[in-house]
Amino acid sequence: MSKAEASVKDFTGSVTPEMLTVEDIKRAWHQIYNEIRKNYIGRIGIFEMLWIAMLTSKHVYLEGVPGLGKTYMANTFAKTLGCKFSRIQFTPDMLPSDIVGTNIFNPKTGTFRLRKGPIFAHVVLADEINRAPPKTQSALLEAMAEGQVSIEGETQVLEKPFVVIATANPVEQEGTYPLPEAQLDRFLFKIFLTYNSAEEELQMIQLKNNPIKSQIKQVVSPETIRAMMKVIKRVYVHPDILAYIRDIVIATRADRRVLVGGSPRASESLLMASKARAAIHGREYVIPDDVLTLGVHILHHRLILKPEAELEGITPVRVAQDILNSVPPPVDDIEEFEEELEEEEEEEEEEEEEEE
Ligand SMILES: Nc1ncnc2c1ncn2[C@@H]1O[C@H](COP(=O)(O)OP(=O)(O)OP(=O)(O)O)[C@@H](O)[C@H]1O
Ligand SMILES: [Mg+2]
Repeated sequence: MSKAEASVKDFTGSVTPEMLTVEDIKRAWHQIYNEIRKNYIGRIGIFEMLWIAMLTSKHVYLEGVPGLGKTYMANTFAKTLGCKFSRIQFTPDMLPSDIVGTNIFNPKTGTFRLRKGPIFAHVVLADEINRAPPKTQSALLEAMAEGQVSIEGETQVLEKPFVVIATANPVEQEGTYPLPEAQLDRFLFKIFLTYNSAEEELQMIQLKNNPIKSQIKQVVSPETIRAMMKVIKRVYVHPDILAYIRDIVIATRADRRVLVGGSPRASESLLMASKARAAIHGREYVIPDDVLTLGVHILHHRLILKPEAELEGITPVRVAQDILNSVPPPVDDIEEFEEELEEEEEEEEEEEEEEE
């Protein structure tokens, strides 16, 4: 990848991967959050995680008490992306076909026609996912893992980008079906929303008090997002960083407090998300800090603790944090890392010249 300057001005138009650099991806992200900021106060780090999930075709689980702004968050996010958005309110009487769709018989023509369900969108808000029975939850989880759904035996591929933002409210547990722990592995991030700070709460009500509503503009398009995904795949990962990711995930399996540690999906997720974060920050290579910053949010919900650890009040978040603090990062000096990368690039160029 060349170290070209940002070149694309309008991310809503027709953009190919060849036109994009990581600088563009960084600039697009700045445009997105400048729009979000008009209507949503704070939580920019969480929006960044939604964006990382979107760029890696993975999904997010948001947990928080009622009225914290979970639904509003997904809504605001989708608006800036120019993506097809759908919201599914999960209820106890819901069937899988309410999510994926069904074939409908047309008596006039004597044929069946596919009526696509709300899963056919780029951003799907699965609101209060723990209210639906397990069968319906699995229909969603399968679609998330495979990027496709099967309707009466026929496979339908879901268009990318495809991100599911599932929400759950931990307070009211009666009549709910909490997701089995094993299923949480399907989510890239599990995020606990907490209250705004006092300053943010004030800013929020000031915003609501303003009679003039600012309009959120669309700043990217599904096509551009697909192009960005290709650029992110080319982000460089040093072999030492690959080993670092492996060491972290293996450490979760070996921890004496853990019954079930991170799966290979956890390692892959850590890798892909770190690459996306690097690009969002305008870098063509992953640094240990990318892994470290995202690590807790990617790992904690995949860890099942031993009952005795739980009894001691130890949480998966704490275990994940301990592990990230204990595994030594490969190089903590970014400059050293950049130098190595430049040397490698020079070598590659020389080889190319020789070939010519
Ligand atoms: N950080 C914020 N910035 C701007 N508005 C906010 C923020 N947090 C909450 N709000 C406001 O609070 C309202 C309630 O948020 P929302 O409906 O998204 O809550 P929720 O978390 O989905 O609740 P529930 O669990 O009951 O569905 C929104 O309409 C929004 O106006
Ligand atoms: Mg809601």
